[in-house]
Amino acid sequence: MFNQRIKIKDLLATHYEQQEVVVMGWVRTFRNNQFIALNDGSTGSNLQVVLELGLFEESLLKRITTSASLKVRGLVVPSLGKGQTIELKAKEVEILGDSDAEAYPLQPKKHSLEFLREIAHLRFRTNTFGSVFRVRHALSFAIHQFFNERGFVYMHTPIITASDAEGAGEMFRVTTLSPDKPPMNEEGGVNFKEDFFGRAANLTVSGQLEGELGATAFGEIYTFGPTFRAENSNTARHLAEFWMIEPEMAFCDLEDNMNLAESFIQHIIRYALKHNAADLEFLDQRLAEEEKQLPQDKRSEMGLLEKLSFVVNNQFERITYTEAIDILLQSPAYKKKKFQYDVKWGIDMQSEHERYLVEKHFKKPVIVTNYPKDIKAFYMRQNDDGKTVAAMDILAPGIGEIVGGSQREERLDRLVARMQEMHIPTDELWWYLDTRKFGTVPHAGFGLGFERMVQFVTGMGNIRDVIAFPRTPKNCEF
Ligand code: 4AD
Ligand code: MG
Repeated sequence: MFNQRIKIKDLLATHYEQQEVVVMGWVRTFRNNQFIALNDGSTGSNLQVVLELGLFEESLLKRITTSASLKVRGLVVPSLGKGQTIELKAKEVEILGDSDAEAYPLQPKKHSLEFLREIAHLRFRTNTFGSVFRVRHALSFAIHQFFNERGFVYMHTPIITASDAEGAGEMFRVTTLSPDKPPMNEEGGVNFKEDFFGRAANLTVSGQLEGELGATAFGEIYTFGPTFRAENSNTARHLAEFWMIEPEMAFCDLEDNMNLAESFIQHIIRYALKHNAADLEFLDQRLAEEEKQLPQDKRSEMGLLEKLSFVVNNQFERITYTEAIDILLQSPAYKKKKFQYDVKWGIDMQSEHERYLVEKHFKKPVIVTNYPKDIKAFYMRQNDDGKTVAAMDILAPGIGEIVGGSQREERLDRLVARMQEMHIPTDELWWYLDTRKFGTVPHAGFGLGFERMVQFVTGMGNIRDVIAFPRTPKNCEF
C-alpha cells in the first residue's frame, strides 16, 4: 500500500510523540538545508520537518524546493523552536514530484488577490485560499446537516431548462445548432424545433419552480446547486455561475419563512465557528491587516470573528419595504444628497441604500418584507393592499442582499392573472400551475446565494475569491 500517511491536521491535534509516522505534502519553505515547512492542505498550519545535518545526500537536498511534493517518514518529537509544539525528525525523505522553484509563480511573500486570480489553479496553496475553501466546504456540509436534521428532502433540480424561473430573461442559451448557419423558421427567426430538445433551452437561473413541485409532495425540500445568470454585472458580488440553496416549504407563510432563514444562517455560521476556528482566526487577522490600509471611516466596526458571533447571538432586524424607504428618506445621507440613486417608494433599492440600512442604521442583518409587486417576480403572493407582495430579502453587512425569497401565490386565479400582466407564458408553465389545481397549499421559500454567504463568513471582499474558478463577463479561464 502506498498511502499510510497521517494528515498534518490530525498529527498536530493528537499526541503522537515518539511515534514514527509518514506524512506527505508540499514544501512551503526550506531553510538552512535543515527545516522544511510542509503543508498538506488539511490545515493552514505547516508541519516543521527537521533534517539532521549530514544525514541526507546533497543531491536530495537540492530537490527540496518550494512546492515540491514529499513523502517523509520520521519521528514525532517535541519542538524546541517557536511556533509549534511538535516537529518531525526525518528518517527518510522521498521526493514525489520535483518543482522548479524559479518557474513556480507563488513565492513565499504576500501576493495581491488580483494576481492570485490569474493563477487560480495554484491559489489554493496559499494560506488565504486554503482557509477560504476549507470554510466553504464546512458551510456546504453544515447546510446539508441543517436541512437533514429537519427532515427536508434534498432535491436535484435540472440545470438545463426551457423556463425562465425568475422571468428576468438573464439566461444562457443551451444549443447544439450551428452558430454560423442555424435553421430558420418562416418568421425569419432561429428554428429551435430542430435544436437538441426540439425547443429553446437555457441554463437555469433558479431551481425554485421545480422545488415548489417537490414541496407540494414532500412538504419540505431544498436544492443546493449551480445557477446561471447572464447579467452583465461586473461587481464584487455578481457571478455568471453561482451556487444557490433554495428551501421550499408547504404549509408555510412569510413569517415561518423568515424564521427558517434566520436560524439557517445562524446554524451554518455556528458550525464554521466551531469546526474552522483556526481558519477563521487566520481570516480575521488577514482582514484586520487589510483594513489597516483603509481610512478610518471605511473600516468595519467589528472584526470578522466579532461580527460572526454577533450575528449568531442576535436577532435580525425585520422591517417592511415601506419602513425601509422611510428610514432612507429621513437619513442624513439622503438629506445631504450622499446617495447616487434617488430614493422614493417603488424603487428597486440600490446597494448603497441596502448598505446604509444594515451598516449605518441597524448595524446588523436586516430582513426587508413586502416589496412593491412591480419590482418582484410573478410567483410572489399578492398582498391585500394591491401594491405589495409577500417578499423578503435578507441584507447582510458588507454584502447587501444575501437571501431573496417569498411566500408564493397559491391562488390559481391570482397567479394566472399576474402572469398574464407580466407576460409570463402560462401555457409553457402548465406543470407549475397544476400544483395550484390539485391540492394547493400556502407555501414559501427562499434562495441563499452561497458565494455571498461564503464572502460574509470569510470576510473576502470580492466574490471571485470565494469560488474556485469564477465565471464573470469576459472571463472563463480554467
Ligand atoms: O433574489 P434571487 O434572484 O432569487 C431567486 O432566484 C429565487 N428563485 C429564490 C427563491 O425564492 N427560491 O437570488 C437569490 C440569491 C440572492 O439573494 C443572492 O444572494 C444570490 O442568489 N444571487 C447571486 N449571487 C451571485 N451572483 C449573482 N449574479 C447572483 N444573483 C443572485
Ligand atoms: Mg433578489
